Amino acid sequence: MAYYKMNRFHWHLVDGTGWRVEIKKYPQLTQQAAWRPYENLVEWSDKERQYCEKSPNAYGGYYTQEDVKEIVAYASSKYITVIPEIEMPGHSEEVLAVFPQLSCTGKAYVNSDFCIGNPKTFIFLEDVLTEIMALFPSEYIHIGGDEAEKKGWKSCSKCADLMEKKGLKDVDELQSYMIHHIETFLNKNGRRLLGWDEIMQGGLAPNATVMSWRGEEYGIKAVQAGHDAIMTPIKYCYFNFYQDAPESHVLSWAGYTPIEKVYSYNPVPDSVNVEEKKHILGVQANVWTEYIPTENIAEMMIWPRALAIAETGWTQPDRKLFSRFKENALNAVEYLKDKGYNPFDLKDEVGERKEYYDTLKHLAIGKPVEYKQPFSDEYPAGGKDALVNGLQGGWSCDNNRWQGFINNGIDVVIDLQTTQTVHSIQATFMQDVFGWCWMPKDVEIYTSVDSQNFTLLSNITNDIPFTQVGFFLKEFAWKGNVEARYIRYVANPDKSNTKVGFIFTDEIVVR
Ligand code: ACM
Repeated sequence: MAYYKMNRFHWHLVDGTGWRVEIKKYPQLTQQAAWRPYENLVEWSDKERQYCEKSPNAYGGYYTQEDVKEIVAYASSKYITVIPEIEMPGHSEEVLAVFPQLSCTGKAYVNSDFCIGNPKTFIFLEDVLTEIMALFPSEYIHIGGDEAEKKGWKSCSKCADLMEKKGLKDVDELQSYMIHHIETFLNKNGRRLLGWDEIMQGGLAPNATVMSWRGEEYGIKAVQAGHDAIMTPIKYCYFNFYQDAPESHVLSWAGYTPIEKVYSYNPVPDSVNVEEKKHILGVQANVWTEYIPTENIAEMMIWPRALAIAETGWTQPDRKLFSRFKENALNAVEYLKDKGYNPFDLKDEVGERKEYYDTLKHLAIGKPVEYKQPFSDEYPAGGKDALVNGLQGGWSCDNNRWQGFINNGIDVVIDLQTTQTVHSIQATFMQDVFGWCWMPKDVEIYTSVDSQNFTLLSNITNDIPFTQVGFFLKEFAWKGNVEARYIRYVANPDKSNTKVGFIFTDEIVVR
């Protein structure tokens, strides 16, 4: 990191997958929530998803305070500050398994958020932060703040009492109350609060710094309000996503973030003024390791993409040039390999899905599409003509080519506007379990000449189980010979899958 001029190491120490730092006052955290009975996270999640104590068959671990001191001192010798993160109020299943009294129901394995109405929550968090501050000299303490479910709070009498007493009108304001409280505590101790962008919900604490991850818009809002921000939008800065074509890559989270895309990110948007720009403190990359089984693979996810973040952090946008950067990155990969690291070998990069660059011609191009089930607002892929615009998706569902459907699947009717001979009807679907996108259970393909009477041409059953991790594309096609004006394409979700996810397709190709 130091060699490539990175100066902050943000260490996400605790999460629902385990508590990973020794806290002297609460040794139960690492005794009872740092291990699990299954090595594989997917298997563990599909089973009872409970923590266990250390044993020869348990998987897990944690850093002792001596380990932490050694890491902080080593980083410091390289001019790197380690910023610790202690998650609250969400992603806290592991704490609540050990101390269920800190959850709204009082039961382990029910809630993922701390009960904010319970004063003991604040005693616990302040005790933990006190030990954390003693270990980490960093001015900033990261308190998480992301993805709280806020479910338990809605039916909790303690939370309701607190909301009434403090005049908080909704659960966002309840969350904000907690963040304000923790900020006051940190500031009193001479530290500054940093949190993921959800800490803005319900009103941002007065001195807080925002880490903008869901997009850059939250960081922009923060600096416009006079706060500091760190930019780390998921589409550019998450290194747990694929950096190359999935079939040539180790299993990763759904998403395609090649080095060129990382390099293209400008953390200081033109839309903010000179004063506001000063509040953008920097840019960060994240590598979430739940699905990364070894250190070697972690290195491969980080390098060489981290070079693109480092150069972005230190280079004016008008001095960035990808062709020059890539030459340097190729050399850096050789250097890193010589040093015994395991970078992704950039010279073997396969790149984006070829179909992404083609524009298809077929009978349904530009024809009206009637949606009997709506597409998701989250993945509209350009709207009502997305399935007949000739444009195909890439390796990522969020590149505005894949149209997403949730709950009831797909049911569309395309009007070819004249009756004509049709020889094939097909669509491609994507499965990526880590991204919660699944193949349909089956597909039904119908045609009609009058829009009233439809004939079923084919009913195709999916053969990729929804439990199959990895990245898959599969075409569901009918071939034959029929006179038709209307095409009805139905993709049914697998109702036996209890995880509600998306069905994605990019184009319904009619020939
Ligand atoms: C995050 O990725 N949930 C910050």
